Amino acid sequence: MSTVNLQDLVLDRASAIPLSQQLTLQLSHWVVSGRLAPGIRLPASRVLAQDLKLSRNTINTAIDQLRAQGYLTSQAGSGVFVSTDLPQKDKPLLKASIQGLKEYPPLSDYGEQLQKNDFKERSGQLPFTPGVPDLSAFPYKIWQTLMRRHSDRAILGGYQGNQGYKPLRENLAHYLNSSRGLRCTPDQIIITQGAQQGLALCTQLLLNPGDHVLHEEPGYMGARKAFTAIGANIKPLIMGTDGLDVSQLPLKTSAKLLYTTPTHQYPMGGILPTSDRLQLLNWADKHRLWIIEDDYDSEFHFYTNPIAAMQGMAELSPVIYLGSFSKTLQPGLRLGYLVVPKPLVSAFVQAKSFICGESPLLSQAVVSDFIEEGHFIRHLRRMRLNYQKKWEHMQSLCEQHLQGTMTPIAQSAGMHLVLQSNNPQLDDVRLHQRFSQAGFGSSPLSYYYQGEVKKRGLVLGFSNTNEQEREQGIQTLAGLLSRSDL
Ligand SMILES: Cc1ncc(COP(=O)(O)O)c(C=O)c1O
Repeated sequence: MSTVNLQDLVLDRASAIPLSQQLTLQLSHWVVSGRLAPGIRLPASRVLAQDLKLSRNTINTAIDQLRAQGYLTSQAGSGVFVSTDLPQKDKPLLKASIQGLKEYPPLSDYGEQLQKNDFKERSGQLPFTPGVPDLSAFPYKIWQTLMRRHSDRAILGGYQGNQGYKPLRENLAHYLNSSRGLRCTPDQIIITQGAQQGLALCTQLLLNPGDHVLHEEPGYMGARKAFTAIGANIKPLIMGTDGLDVSQLPLKTSAKLLYTTPTHQYPMGGILPTSDRLQLLNWADKHRLWIIEDDYDSEFHFYTNPIAAMQGMAELSPVIYLGSFSKTLQPGLRLGYLVVPKPLVSAFVQAKSFICGESPLLSQAVVSDFIEEGHFIRHLRRMRLNYQKKWEHMQSLCEQHLQGTMTPIAQSAGMHLVLQSNNPQLDDVRLHQRFSQAGFGSSPLSYYYQGEVKKRGLVLGFSNTNEQEREQGIQTLAGLLSRSDL
């Protein structure tokens, strides 16, 4: 067995990187490159210390590190050797080619279906990007206090159950029953990682490929995409000014599911009156289909209290209620909830356990205290005033700058405003792109249609904007609309 001379090692004694670390790094490179052959014995640490003019401590630290990483091995009494078996990460990669992957099994039918979509990941957040609450007005101090309170509770580092943290389900049931008119018990609530996960669970548990789903048109794309991805057929619901037009519900239907946003139609903003809600519930009962009631931003009605949720209007309601903390708190939290009829709870909780397991426990504990101690209600009250002022400002800016080009659909609620183009031929996708190049977010109204586009314009989220951004944004929009190529 041969030994090796390590005197060529280059060490920078002026560097902030400790000498033991420099030694570890260089020796590991020498092992991987073969400069130190497998099986070769290193000089004794005393000799190395002398040759390299380093302390034995430094040498021993580096050798211990290299041994732990698998580059060196030691044999009692005979010294330290270069390992004959490189660590896995340094072994040469298997020869594989992209071409070769084509011969592997194809995606599932579901995967193939998704592969065909022209998918673009969210490109970040600009002023007016719809769906973002006022993140600068979030009560970070209170949040930090609650986080600190819970962060060293060992029990929250483990598993507590897929249905969700019990105290949160209890506090949420109390809030929903008293403030949103639901009739639910904590054991009907499932804490999800956002409303979108709730929709995905509904899709998996209630639909088979080919099933029919009734969906608002224009309507929420996130729901429509989840339904179509599983192979369901979407049948558009005819809309009136207050949301879906109950007088136009089909006399016959084989649909299994109806998706609706009755308290603030997404995106057009209609508010379905109580009598229409009752009619819809009776109709669903007659035709035996489930209703998904998406109550995504009902907390933000500015001049009147929001109408009670449909879920609470019937004794044995066929409603699956979908809620989210994305608008009331923050979308980055990734927490939402489902309220499901009791006979469905077990299947939903099992599916959640397979798909993603539990929702983050620490955040659940913080939200639970946030509700219980009254911070949630206070925060909602503040945000309602905040959004009301912004909504009023938007109305006056539109009046000032967009007269004759775009008309705001003026429901006094929510976090976004629909600007409907007076020109039915407007290329709202191009307008959205130009607006985005100028630094502002939006969604083209045409995106919300699956079939024939009946209205064009832009959806603007105003909740996460400041006064200057609103002024600049609407003036920029007016400038873009004055050009003739849209
Ligand atoms: C109508 C509607 N429903 C559901 C969601 C999904 O919310 P979450 O962030 O909780 O998945 C959104 C998000 O913007 C929405 O606009």
